[in-house]
Amino acid sequence: MEKTRKIVLFACLLLVSFLASSSAQTCLNHSFSNRQYANCSDLPALNCFLHWTYDEAAGTVEVAFRHTGTTSSRWSAWGINPSGPSMLNTQALVAYVNSSGIPHAFTTSIDSMSPSMQQSALSFQVPSLSAEFENNEMRIFAVMRISESLLATNQVWQEGPVSNDQLMIHPTSGDNMRSTASVNFLTGQSGGTSSGSSRTRRRNVHGVLNTVSWGILMPLGAITARYMKVFKSADPAWFYLHVVCQTSAYAVGVAGWATGIRLGSDSAGVTHNPHRNIGITLFCLGTLQVTFASRVFMFLKSYKQTFMVEICGACRCLLCF
Ligand code: HEM
Ligand SMILES: *[C@@H]1O[C@H](CO)[C@@H](O)[C@H](O)[C@H]1NC(C)=O
Ligand SMILES: *[C@@H]1O[C@H](CO)[C@@H](O)[C@H](O)[C@H]1NC(C)=O
Ligand SMILES: *[C@@H]1O[C@H](CO)[C@@H](O)[C@H](O)[C@H]1NC(C)=O
Repeated sequence: MEKTRKIVLFACLLLVSFLASSSAQTCLNHSFSNRQYANCSDLPALNCFLHWTYDEAAGTVEVAFRHTGTTSSRWSAWGINPSGPSMLNTQALVAYVNSSGIPHAFTTSIDSMSPSMQQSALSFQVPSLSAEFENNEMRIFAVMRISESLLATNQVWQEGPVSNDQLMIHPTSGDNMRSTASVNFLTGQSGGTSSGSSRTRRRNVHGVLNTVSWGILMPLGAITARYMKVFKSADPAWFYLHVVCQTSAYAVGVAGWATGIRLGSDSAGVTHNPHRNIGITLFCLGTLQVTFASRVFMFLKSYKQTFMVEICGACRCLLCF
């Protein structure tokens, strides 16, 4: 009875952990103090979010771009680029905290691969533009008067260092090279172009692998051990089933973990700390247990496998609670 409870509790823990890892749209939860937007999208790189409202009658798109986890010595920028999902020709809104300690926002049209980053007019009107910096989050607010042909286009965002009011070149590797996506202000759709979607795909692969491993195979293995072994006729089949389940769960888990680490190392300077640390810890504990279980198995081969399961159960409880 005690053991059943522990197994149930363990399965619940796993469920919670993979639910937490599934990609919920977190921008939906953000509320601005005195603004509201009809649509939002979690941008696939650099901890950024776009919120917007399309006003058909006025022919304007009101946008709020948020860049979280930054500092007051970095600039943030967002823009649209009708010519493609790339930097060149981006009609950008830029903001940084200047030497007066005030967030300063301006528009700049990027017309070369080493842009001046000086204030310049865009190919459309921007009747209103401002920025605020708070809790390591830069927010750029703007109203853009854009033609219908620009409602479905590409969006490009970026961040880089500031030194003495000079906006320096951004990193040219990792997520800073993947900060482009499509956007449709009309339908509310935003996301995958080339590089953006490959990251999303890897994210999904990571989620699916870990769910299958920790969420399905591992509990299945535990259940076969717990419930099948009571049937004498199922002996020793249950044990092989159990071993197959746990081994393949571990193999899939390794793949899931590796995709996670790869995702993490590709986000230069950006780490999702709790998630990453929980992932690494879980994986270490899982590795310990699998190694330990096979060692004990070698020693106890001649004994009843039931004994093994008791030991494994004990280890798991020790590791988890
Ligand atoms: C200080 C000003 C800037 C400089 C000197 C600069 C320079 C560069 C260079 C040299 C690359 C190519 C790197 C490579 O291919 O290895 C690049 C890429 C990129 N830049 Fe910038 N950039 C600046 C500002 C911006 C701004 C304001 C944005 C966004 C609004 C931006 C967005 C991007 C993006 C998304 C890429 C990757 C895609 C592409 O290569 O077009 N950059 N930048
Ligand atoms: C969003 O907020 C709701 C309630 O306000 C909460 O239940 C939910 O977990 C939140 N989701 C995220 C992803 O933070
Ligand atoms: C900083 O930005 C504010 C707001 O745009 C501006 O009024 C102020 O003059 C700027 N200070 C410097 C030193 O550029
Ligand atoms: C975007 O906002 C409009 C207007 O409120 C709404 O009808 C639409 O469903 C939203 N789209 C998405 C994808 O949320």
